[in-house]
Amino acid sequence: MPGNFQLSLDMLEEEISEVVDLGIPAVLLFGLPEEKDPVGSGAYDPEGIIQEAIRVIKQTAPNLMVVGDVCLCEYTDHGHCGVIENQRIDNDQTLELLARTALAQVQAGADMVAPSAMMDGQVRAIRETLDANGEETVPVMGYAAKYASAFYGPFRVAADSTPQFGDRRSYQMDPANRRMAMREIESDIAEGADIVMVKPALAYLDVIKTARDRFDHPMAAYNVSGEFSMVKGAARQGWIDEKMVTLELLTAIRRAGADIIISYHAKEVARWLRGDE
Ligand code: PBG
Ligand code: ZN
Repeated sequence: MPGNFQLSLDMLEEEISEVVDLGIPAVLLFGLPEEKDPVGSGAYDPEGIIQEAIRVIKQTAPNLMVVGDVCLCEYTDHGHCGVIENQRIDNDQTLELLARTALAQVQAGADMVAPSAMMDGQVRAIRETLDANGEETVPVMGYAAKYASAFYGPFRVAADSTPQFGDRRSYQMDPANRRMAMREIESDIAEGADIVMVKPALAYLDVIKTARDRFDHPMAAYNVSGEFSMVKGAARQGWIDEKMVTLELLTAIRRAGADIIISYHAKEVARWLRGDE
């Protein structure tokens, strides 16, 4: 994935200082454990890589908002987002592990958690667990409408999280279906999501716009790895003006109705907007 790297803990401080200097308000963390197993233990281990990373970031930059991505796919040896039982995802067993993961992140210092596994009831399970442990004030950003997209390819290579069998279509959404996205967003809000998300962003601007018109709720859009990499690839070929195209695309996501954009272009855009380059 162009310009994006796995960072070890000793490289984190430098990266975070750069992010803070650029005025970027928040980071979203994805972890790669030393060892993967069938139940993704590394995700909810109190000493797991993300929990350690959160502690390092909070020491370096106490005011930077740290958001933990809550899923099992980077931590499972089969690469799926949940526990597998008879070759199928076991939704309810997974909920408990996602809730443990969210709590471990919050106890390490995360300011917000963002469940991305697309398990039914994940927002409620996490909300209940956080509340029961005195973390009522920590918000949840639900990956509410997450499509089964080919645009996730570069991320899966970078995060070593490609499913080892089958695909994610039993839990992610059908790209042809917009009304389903509205139902998913509605149920995430009912379960207590403070922010709802649409993912990917550029190929789903109509979904963002429809949700914006329908729900008076904070909304995020995730400009995913494949969308990012296409811009990078074309720019490297000299076919497009990278700065102008990137700003135009991010503006489109904003125009469609996103309040928050999750983007791999963030550091570059911050430099451009500051007038550095
Ligand atoms: C799964 C997850 C995905 C991404 C991040 N976490 C989707 C997937 O692999 O199905 C994709 C992010 C991107 O492409 O930028 N929990
Ligand atoms: Zn996942």
